[in-house]
Amino acid sequence: MLNSLEALPPDPILGLSLAFQEDPRSEKIDLGVGVYRDESGDTPVMRAVKAAEKQFLEEETTKAYIPQVGVAEFNAGVLDLVLGRDHPAMVDGRASTVLTPGGTGALRIGAELIKRIKADATVWVGDPTWANHTPILKGAGVNIATFPYYDKESSTVLFSEMLEALDAASPGDAVLVHGCCHNPCGADLGIAEWRQLADLVVAKGLLPFIDLAYQGFGEGLDEDAAGVRLVAEKCPEVLIASSCSKNFGLYRERTGSLTSVAQSAEKAKAAQSHATNVARAMYSMPPAHGAFLAGMVLQQDDLRQTWQEELTAMRNRMNELRALFVRKMADKGSPRDFSFIEQQFGMFSFLGIDKERIQRLRDEFGIYMVGSSRVNIAGISETNIDHLTDSLVEVLKDG
Ligand code: LMR
Repeated sequence: MLNSLEALPPDPILGLSLAFQEDPRSEKIDLGVGVYRDESGDTPVMRAVKAAEKQFLEEETTKAYIPQVGVAEFNAGVLDLVLGRDHPAMVDGRASTVLTPGGTGALRIGAELIKRIKADATVWVGDPTWANHTPILKGAGVNIATFPYYDKESSTVLFSEMLEALDAASPGDAVLVHGCCHNPCGADLGIAEWRQLADLVVAKGLLPFIDLAYQGFGEGLDEDAAGVRLVAEKCPEVLIASSCSKNFGLYRERTGSLTSVAQSAEKAKAAQSHATNVARAMYSMPPAHGAFLAGMVLQQDDLRQTWQEELTAMRNRMNELRALFVRKMADKGSPRDFSFIEQQFGMFSFLGIDKERIQRLRDEFGIYMVGSSRVNIAGISETNIDHLTDSLVEVLKDG
C-alpha cells in the first residue's frame, strides 16, 4: 500500500531552508523561512526564556500530564497579552483560551470549531495569505474562499476590494485575517479599516478568525493588538490564534493558543470545551514546556521586563533593516522604488520581482527567498546588505 505513495515536493517555505543549507557558497543569504535572526544570522534563545528555563528545570518535579486547556499562568498571561486586562471581554469573563501546539495548532483547532458550528461554513482568506493557511483549513475540511488583500504592483492593501468580496459571505462564515505584521506582505490594516471590517462582520453575521503570530514585531505589544482588541470589542464573537514562536523565540517548542471571545462567560467555557474535545481526538494534550516558560516570562516582573526589552530590540532591528534596505537600493540607483518596504511591518515583505529574477538571485548570487518574492527582513544584516542590494540591482537592470 505504501508503495502507491509518490514522494512529494518539498514544502514551499520549509524546503528552502534545506536547499540553503546545502549551498556551499559563503556569501549566500537566507531570506526564506520566517525565523528571527540577529546580526550574526543566529536565532538565539531569548535571555528571559533562558532564565525562565533554568528556574523551571530546577523547580520541575513531574512530567505528569497538564490539564487539557493548558498551563494556568500561560493561559492567563496570553489573554492579558492579546486582549489586555481592561478589555470588556476580559472584564465580563467572556474570553477563554486553550494551549495549542503552536499558532498552527490554534488555526487548525479554530477551523475545526468553525466546522462544528456550521458544517458547510466557508472560511474567507486573503489573497495573498500565509502559504500554510489553505492546507490547514483544507485539513479541517472547511470550504475556502478568497478575498483580494494586497496588490504587488502598487504595494497597497486592496481594502475596498476586500470588503466588496466579503459582501458575498454568508452568515456563519469566518474571515481569517492577520492581526499584525501580515505574512507574507507586511501591509496591515489601519485602525479605521479594522473598524470598517468589524462593522461588516457584524452586519453580515460573520465570525472573525484572527491569526496573531507576530505580536510585538510591528510597532509594539499593545499597538500590534489594537486591531484584534477593536474587533473583539465590536463583534460579539471572535476566534484568535496566537503564537509564541516568534515573539518568545519558542519555535520548536510549539507554543500557541486559541482564544475564544464569546457572548457570555458560559459560552466562552463551552467553546473551550469544544477546543479541548477536538484536540483530544487529534493529539490529546498540547506540549507543555514552552507554555511553562512563556507563562513564567509573562507573570514574573523581572523576566517580563527583560523579555520586553529583547523584543523591542528585535523589532527595532527589523525596522532599521527596512530603512537601510530602502536607502541602499536608492543609493545604488535601483530602477524600482522600494520605499514601500519602510512603510510595512514585521518580518516579511514582497520584493515584487518575478520568478525568473528570484531564480537568478538564487542561482547566480546564492540569495534564497520564497517563490512569491517574500523576503524575511530579519535575514538581512549589515554584513550581507551590500551583497543583497548589489545583486538585486543587477537582476533589475533590464527593468
Ligand atoms: C513562515 O511563514 O516562514 C513561518 O511562519 C514558518 C512556517 O512554518 O511557514
